[in-house]
Amino acid sequence: LNSRAFSTSSFAQDIQKITVYGSGLMGAGIVQVAAQKGYAVTMVDLDEGSLERGKGIISSSLKRVAKKQFKDDEQKQKEFIEFTFSNIKTNTDSGEGAKDADLIIEAIVENIETKQKLFGFLDKIAPKDAIFASNTSSLPITELAKATDRADRFAGLHFFNPVPQMKLVEVVKSEKTSDETHHALMEFSKKLDKTPVTCKDTPGFIVNRLLVPYLLEAIRLVERGVATSADVDTAMKLGAGMPMGPFELSDFVGLDTLKSIADGWREGGQVDPNLVAKIKTLDDLVSAGNLGRKTGQGFFPY
Ligand code: CAA
Ligand code: NAD
Repeated sequence: LNSRAFSTSSFAQDIQKITVYGSGLMGAGIVQVAAQKGYAVTMVDLDEGSLERGKGIISSSLKRVAKKQFKDDEQKQKEFIEFTFSNIKTNTDSGEGAKDADLIIEAIVENIETKQKLFGFLDKIAPKDAIFASNTSSLPITELAKATDRADRFAGLHFFNPVPQMKLVEVVKSEKTSDETHHALMEFSKKLDKTPVTCKDTPGFIVNRLLVPYLLEAIRLVERGVATSADVDTAMKLGAGMPMGPFELSDFVGLDTLKSIADGWREGGQVDPNLVAKIKTLDDLVSAGNLGRKTGQGFFPY
């Protein structure tokens, strides 16, 4: 028993080099929390402009974290920020970024073909024993893993926005994910000071399976003329202790993301279709390009 416990824990410690694909809202946050803890992280995106945007996200978030951790010590704040950035490399070459990774975390656009294409490509380049993880909000891990020959070393690793602040990570175990891979990702999450929970590969895992129908029902409630969006937000904040009301939160998550989750589940047929029925207000906002905070306009202006 001892030797088994020893071998699994040493396996978990073998994660040292991490490559994160996607330097958007989520990718940048994941890069940041890993680099803060001393992991050697490579951040990959399609072009230098996206990487620069990602570094900007990290920089402004790190300033908040540094101020909190080292209140009145500006020198320590500076050292902490420099230490974190010294652990981050960037690359626009997908293959180069994967060559010596122990763990690859994918946080690119929520599109199954794009993700499968990337994983299929990386499977041929990354070390044979590297673990692959997807930060997908709504796509089946089993389907993504099919693009590779390493379904046993493939899992979901679902972080929450804003990554540096939200304590949860959902570790999603498909039927093929090995216990070793699951264990390594649980340990890795703890090393990032996150609290991991284990979940089966089902639509929305835990949080989104409950959160998305709630956000959609809030929009329907306003469509029915029950209350204004501002009053719904106030009600849920003051009456149910939510840090953000459902409209503020939908804008924060991104209305395109919310719509693509609902559309995907409806088309996939695994979720009660009434829970994810089409909503005109949401479709109209997305087709007008009003995607929430990131575009300056969603349900509310920013
Ligand atoms: N980086 C680092 N720290 C951050 C941060 C960031 N980007 N954003 C906020 N924070 C920290 C602040 O430093 C502050 O820390 P302390 O309280 O320890 O001092 C704390 O968060 C609160 O921040 P603010 O006072 O500036 O603002 P706030 O009180 O309005 O909180 C919030 C902001 C943390 C985002 C809060 O409103 C919240 O928790 N909202 C709900 C977020 C949520 O539900 N996220 C999940 C979305 S669903 C998802 O992500 C899954 C998916 O697949 C779609
Ligand atoms: P985003 O649009 O902010 O960032 C995506 C980034 O991926 C962009 O910078 C884009 O250039 C890059 N990209 C696209 N194709 C690429 C490729 N082949 N190689 C490298 N980079 C590529 O998106 P986001 O909000 O950070 O979401 C990323 C993932 O995380 C999605 O799967 C999403 O569902 C999931 N997620 C989002 C949230 C959220 O609240 N936004 C929360 C949890 C999980």
